[in-house]
This record gives sequence, structure tokens and C-alpha cells, in this order.
Amino acid sequence: MASSQYGRPEYWEERYLHKKESFEWYQHWGGIKDIITQYVLPSHRILHAGCGTSSLPFEMKAEGYTNIVNMDNSKVLIDYMQETYQGQGMKWDLKDVRKMDNYPNLSFGAVIEKGLLDSILCGDRSRIMAKRMLDEIHRVLADNGVYISVTHAAPELRKHYFEGAKWAVRDYKIFKPQISSPQVSDEGVHYVYVCSKR
Ligand SMILES: C[S@@+](CC[C@H](N)C(=O)[O-])C[C@H]1O[C@@H](n2cnc3c(N)ncnc32)[C@H](O)[C@@H]1O
Repeated sequence: MASSQYGRPEYWEERYLHKKESFEWYQHWGGIKDIITQYVLPSHRILHAGCGTSSLPFEMKAEGYTNIVNMDNSKVLIDYMQETYQGQGMKWDLKDVRKMDNYPNLSFGAVIEKGLLDSILCGDRSRIMAKRMLDEIHRVLADNGVYISVTHAAPELRKHYFEGAKWAVRDYKIFKPQISSPQVSDEGVHYVYVCSKR
């Protein structure tokens, strides 16, 4: 993800006006499940931030993760998801990750995002906006909570955002779904950062 269009809310509104079918950025649940299940318990209240039309919450629900709040700042998307999946035990919330006002402090056991920090970093004033996002995630996470970021970006491009006083970070490199050979360059991989709240 390199294009600046991904940093513009209007881009996502327009995209979801026309594309409502499920679309998965980077990795399906199957590709990240072994990492996520090490850190996230079925009993956790989970915030799935920048949910898009990902199937992740449905696949997680099928594995026993039943308390998931899906949020995104696209109104077109959230209206559609609420209407389409009502009565299926899934929560959908219109919210900006940088200002999650009515989520209380310490109210989630885990926050998972796939491609959301990447989108914010494509936008204007990206460093400041990324800090706002990470500060808000830190605020809503319980004391022993984890924030998991799935991205295309290698540690030298991401770790400095997470490291410091607030987080202890572990990184994982995983292969893109379509590539089965381990003999690939960095272009064939994604990364998962598991940030534990200090
Ligand atoms: C690259 S897509 C990823 C969608 C989904 N997580 C996936 O993996 O398929 C990024 C998503 O983040 C949402 N988004 C962008 N900026 C946001 C913000 N400030 N607050 C909440 N969601 C945002 C977009 O509307 C879009 O749905």
C-alpha cells in the first residue's frame, strides 16, 4: 500500500459505495490465526479497527471469539454492514480510530487492525495521525491488553512507531497467501506486530 489515496476518507466512502462484497487485505484469518490465538483469548472483548469488508470477524467468531466490535470511519460501509449482518451477534460502529471518544479507558482486551495504520500513514500529517491512533488504542486497551497490527511494512518502517515507553513489541514475518515457497524476497511477505501495553 503506497498510494496516498488510501489516506483519504473520501476514497474509502467512494470505494464502499461500489464494492460491498467481502475483500481481504493482505491476509485471511488462516494466515494470521497461529499468531493471534497465542495472544487473544476467546473471553477478550476485541476491537477490530478499520474493519472494512474483511471476513476476519466471521472467521474469528466461528472459532469462539464472540465479543468483537467492528469499527470503521466509513459511514457507507458501517450502514451496510449493520443492515446486512443484523441479528448475527456482530457489532458495527462508525468511529474514527484517532478519536474513539465513547469507548472507555481500558475497555478492550485486544485491538486488531489489518491495513489501518498503513492507510493512516498514507494520509496528511501522517506521523501525527499515527501517534493519535496509537495513543487512542493504548487508552482503550486493558492493562495487559495487546494491539496487533497486520501490515506490508517491514520493521525498519514500523517499529519506531510502536517502540518506546508505551509498548513492548514482537514482530512476525509471514508469507503472502499465494506464495508457498519459503525462498522468496521481502516482497512476498507481510508482517504482524504484536504490541503489549506496558
Ligand atoms: C486497507 S483497508 C483494510 C480493511 C480490512 N481491515 C481488511 O483487512 O480487509 C483500511 C480500512 O481502514 C478504514 N479507515 C481508514 N482511516 C480510518 C480511521 N481514521 N478510522 C477508522 N477507520 C479508518 C477504511 O475505511 C478501510 O475500511
